[in-house]
Amino acid sequence: MEKGKILVVEDQDAMRESLVIAFRDEGYQVEGAASGEEAIQKVDNQNVYDLVVTDLKMKKVDGLEVLRAVKAANSSTEVVLITAYGTISTAVQAIREGAYDYVTKPFRHQEILKVAKKAIEKKGLKDRVRYLEGEIREKYKFEGIVGNSNAMLEVLKVTSHVCRTESTVLVTGESGTGKELIARAIHYNSLRKDGPFVVINCGALPENLQESELFGHMKGSFTGAIKDKIGLFLQAQRGTILLDEIGETSPSTQVKLLRFLQDGEIRPVGGNKALYVDARIIAATNENLEKAVESGKFRKDLFYRINVIRIHLPPLRERREDIPLLVEYFLEKILEKLKKGKRVFSKESMRALVSYDWPGNIRELQNIIERAVTLSKNEIVNVDELPLPAGEVASLISDPLEDQKRKSFIVTTLAEQEKNAIIDALNKYGGNQTKVSQILGISTTTLWRKIKKYRIKPQHEISDTIGI
Ligand SMILES: Nc1ncnc2c1ncn2[C@@H]1O[C@H](COP(=O)(O)OP(=O)(O)OP(=O)(O)O)[C@@H](O)[C@H]1O
Ligand SMILES: [Mg+2]
Repeated sequence: MEKGKILVVEDQDAMRESLVIAFRDEGYQVEGAASGEEAIQKVDNQNVYDLVVTDLKMKKVDGLEVLRAVKAANSSTEVVLITAYGTISTAVQAIREGAYDYVTKPFRHQEILKVAKKAIEKKGLKDRVRYLEGEIREKYKFEGIVGNSNAMLEVLKVTSHVCRTESTVLVTGESGTGKELIARAIHYNSLRKDGPFVVINCGALPENLQESELFGHMKGSFTGAIKDKIGLFLQAQRGTILLDEIGETSPSTQVKLLRFLQDGEIRPVGGNKALYVDARIIAATNENLEKAVESGKFRKDLFYRINVIRIHLPPLRERREDIPLLVEYFLEKILEKLKKGKRVFSKESMRALVSYDWPGNIRELQNIIERAVTLSKNEIVNVDELPLPAGEVASLISDPLEDQKRKSFIVTTLAEQEKNAIIDALNKYGGNQTKVSQILGISTTTLWRKIKKYRIKPQHEISDTIGI
């Protein structure tokens, strides 16, 4: 197996050569660079190194700059520095900026080989984690379901698992969060996909009609029952039935649902013969079923039967990072549908879309995008063209300084929020990056990368003294 690829950066020829040989003898693939410039060039051109071992003090381009270039090119490449006694404090700073470790001159080859081995192992782990994360995202992709937030990823993971089972599923979430979409995904990715997918909104049916709609009735079983009626359960034979707003079912319907879940049988209203139905139930609700159980509105035994696997869809305001993706997705679909030319949302309007609370969740977002595109005359959709509820736009883009509380809220994207959080923390802790990374719960490497990415100004950079 390949042990890893190392770049040794050292301007003293003898030292570089001896290190190259030492690493090569251990079985690594090794290259040498005689200056910081050469190292950066190599990293930029091919960037295939698992580890860069660099001298800290070199003419012109020093080890710190090499470190930054390496991390900018590929943050998972590890860097080990070689320092002389007098440069230890710079080495410590380098660690804050993401270096793996440093060794102090003079050192024995054993010492640097040990550090290098560990650094390469760490890189291997990081790569593996990254790969698995990517794999998860790929694996749990469903057509027409957009979302990259952790919350959505979790939902998709569970959804993907339940597709392979026959379990009853309870999908919960506010109105418009995508409960039906998830139920459809489950059906169309399950073994039942060639069978019917039947949806019934229990809340839309008067109680006295629920039973007959669901389970059918026999001719003459009640006034108006002029002929036999096949219920939705029978229509869902070998398929899936989505019972939307399950909390709205009447007590007698609940009894019948319980019987079906226990032994797969239904009894049409007025009939005395039980019929066997092979259908999978997915239940959905936007109310708190536990509360309904507590208040006696919903049967506890039925609740347990339904709540086997639960998929909860968080409201959109709790996964704002999905908003830009959804906007893009709906925009594309709507432009295609309306055969309109290109449209983009201005920065300000995107900011308002991300900041708005979306009580109607994704359905509302979809409607707003469609209306905005339909009404807009120009390619750029400005914030005043967003058909958000009266007063909303003004407050979403009001002068942030006037309303401190809104300030954290109005920032465009997560990226901007992140940038502000970093700047605030750097200011608060006098530029101490170790402290800031702890406070923000990220590694110093990540912090450094973000500082670079957001081009946070030098006055926020390290200003504390290092106590060595
Ligand atoms: N993650 C998503 N990606 C793309 N479209 C979505 C997503 N979630 C929901 N939608 C779309 O939003 C709309 C509302 O979704 P859906 O009908 O599934 O919500 P719901 O939770 O069943 O709402 P209600 O409680 O009002 O019945 C649908 O057009 C659906 O396609
Ligand atoms: Mg629905």
